[in-house]
Amino acid sequence: MKTYLTGIKPTHLPHIGNMLGAIKPAIDFSKNGKSEDRYLYFIADYHALTSVRDSEDFKEHVYEIAATWLALGLDPAKVIFYKQSDIPETFELAWILACNTPKGDLERAHAYKAAVQANKDAGKKDLNHGINAGLFNYPVLMAADILLFDCDIVPVGKDQVQHVEMARSMAQRINQHYGDVLVEPQESLSVGQYIPGLDGRKMSKSYGNTIPLFVPEKKLKKTINKITTDSKEPNEPKETKGSLIFDIYQCFASPSEVQEMKKKYLEGISWGEAKVELFEKVNAVLSEPREKYEYLMANREVIDCHLKEGAVKARKIAGETLDRVKQRVTGF
Ligand code: TRP
Repeated sequence: MKTYLTGIKPTHLPHIGNMLGAIKPAIDFSKNGKSEDRYLYFIADYHALTSVRDSEDFKEHVYEIAATWLALGLDPAKVIFYKQSDIPETFELAWILACNTPKGDLERAHAYKAAVQANKDAGKKDLNHGINAGLFNYPVLMAADILLFDCDIVPVGKDQVQHVEMARSMAQRINQHYGDVLVEPQESLSVGQYIPGLDGRKMSKSYGNTIPLFVPEKKLKKTINKITTDSKEPNEPKETKGSLIFDIYQCFASPSEVQEMKKKYLEGISWGEAKVELFEKVNAVLSEPREKYEYLMANREVIDCHLKEGAVKARKIAGETLDRVKQRVTGF
């Protein structure tokens, strides 16, 4: 039996990069996996506290991510689906891990280093300006999320690999000192594909180049119209290579549709027409999940109910792990 676990930090409206790169592959994983394997997918809401300062926003983002998972097909009967803050054992394990982690390891974490570098670049005297201890400790909390469930495999994107490595080394350190008590997890990069954003860089909230998933049709159309193109005229043959419209189209269309589109490029489809085709394709794929999403956002008690049930199942596992760790670490 293998345990798979992954989480998403609710800080922004989910976009198609999140869907194609993380959420959909994780859901497919749970659908195609062996029946004895265990899947835990959760909303890393307390991680969002490092940056979200408004309780209304906080709550809204939690529901948005939860509704997105469910709208895209997560089956709560197959996956233990919960939010991090409902599992208080996480925060207790995080403290035990923190006390066994060299501060220098955290200083080498990419996210913290990037924040320090940003202060340097901005000419700030205090290099820790604006950096809270939560951000500094982010990898410890993430390790607790993972280690609490005896997780074997963590499907994540490239940007999270270092965090999983840190979780592994925290488990190793505990195991070396106290005897084998924690499972040492591996990251899995097998899921996820690279999704370019509106400007050609990786689609990311921080670049402001995203196509949001569940906005009304009109808004989706408007966003797709913003995709950058070259200045080739209608009827001029166009390259598919390097065309963002084509790259995004490929993520949604079947192989035969992609072939068809290639032909149209050669025949000189106008960028305007290509955008209409892309919109229609994306819209067709998203319209059913969008309805489900809107239903869930209007009936949040349904989401609450799933998360509550998931938390009960998750806490059962978490409690057992924490007892085992406490026994070794404190003797109690
Ligand atoms: N850090 C992840 C992100 O920003 C979210 C996360 C928190 C996570 N805990 C996790 C991912 C545990 C995988 C496993 O998206």
